[in-house]
Amino acid sequence: MKSEWVRAHTNIALIKYWGKENEELIIPMNNSLSLTLDAFYTETKVTFDENLKTDEFYLDDMIQDLAELEKVKTVLNIVRGKAGIKARAKVESHNHVPTAAGLASSASGLAALAGAASLAAGLDLSERELSKLARRGSGSASRSIYGGFAEWQKGTNDDTSYAVPIDDANWDIGMLFIVVNDKKKEVSSREGMLRTVKTSPFYQGWLNTLDADLSAIKDAIDQQDLHAVGAIAERNALKMHATTLGANPPFTYWSPDSMKAMDAVRDLREKGYSVHFTMDAGPNVKLICKQSQLAEIKSHLLKDFSESQLIEAKPGPGLHVVSKLSN
Ligand code: ADP
Ligand code: DP6
Repeated sequence: MKSEWVRAHTNIALIKYWGKENEELIIPMNNSLSLTLDAFYTETKVTFDENLKTDEFYLDDMIQDLAELEKVKTVLNIVRGKAGIKARAKVESHNHVPTAAGLASSASGLAALAGAASLAAGLDLSERELSKLARRGSGSASRSIYGGFAEWQKGTNDDTSYAVPIDDANWDIGMLFIVVNDKKKEVSSREGMLRTVKTSPFYQGWLNTLDADLSAIKDAIDQQDLHAVGAIAERNALKMHATTLGANPPFTYWSPDSMKAMDAVRDLREKGYSVHFTMDAGPNVKLICKQSQLAEIKSHLLKDFSESQLIEAKPGPGLHVVSKLSN
């Protein structure tokens, strides 16, 4: 058995996953498509130990309570089943991304765990099997197995729902994060999407337009058409966020600062930059722009936001073992 540090990077969806067909297996309602990023990641090590009485999960050196252990346990139990082992595990993880703030810690966190746990159990899983395993912890984690653009194909059951690589994103595309709040959000993605599916009359409207968005963005990626990629992603995100206002009880992930960030993006577009935004289950805003213009766009935003709120990201790599922890 090999206990090694495994690193997975976060990914941001350009076509969002929002709603499950099967809650337990995490089969989504629709395909989603994302870009894995270099700036934010998780490093995780798993050690199976016959002497442990329960699974233990340390996140940034702090022991986590039972609620936080839930998703982790799901992945560990599947790995134990596949490997035929009974030992409990110690999970040590370090997030180089704020946790539960809409910056996709669940994607990098559960993908790194899938990699580290399967390695520690002596399983030699393919990327596709790793994607399915990560999916059971958190849906978006299925896409973080791959670098660049990945599509999570919804499938119909546990075996057919996994992500596939689409394009290595080795062209002039980047993301700039405007972090307006990095504290834990009130409505988790899991709870927010469930409430929306169950109660929002707008949910069906959202689903109806997804096939068209997905095929248009795949064409745009093929053509390396940054403007079209951004425009489709922005429309898709706004539609997703519209569904939450129709939920009962209604909710929104937007804050006044999110709106300020969206306005700043529109101003930049008027100045002639190809820049669009997307948002996830949190108030932070992610800009899609040319990688070669990240610094220039950031300098414009410094009149409204502080240096520490603005984080530049380039396309990042897939899951991999690291020889030592980063600082
Ligand atoms: P986010 O926007 O950060 O993805 P979510 O609410 O979707 O927010 O997910 C946050 C949850 O993901 C945490 O409460 C925890 O359960 C899980 N998580 C985050 N980081 C890790 C990690 N490094 N290892 C395992 N699980 C993690
Ligand atoms: C808005 O993958 O965190 O970021 O599967 O319940 O763990 P669970 O949800 P999660 O949801 C991510 C939602 C999103 C959109 C996306 O990443 O596609």
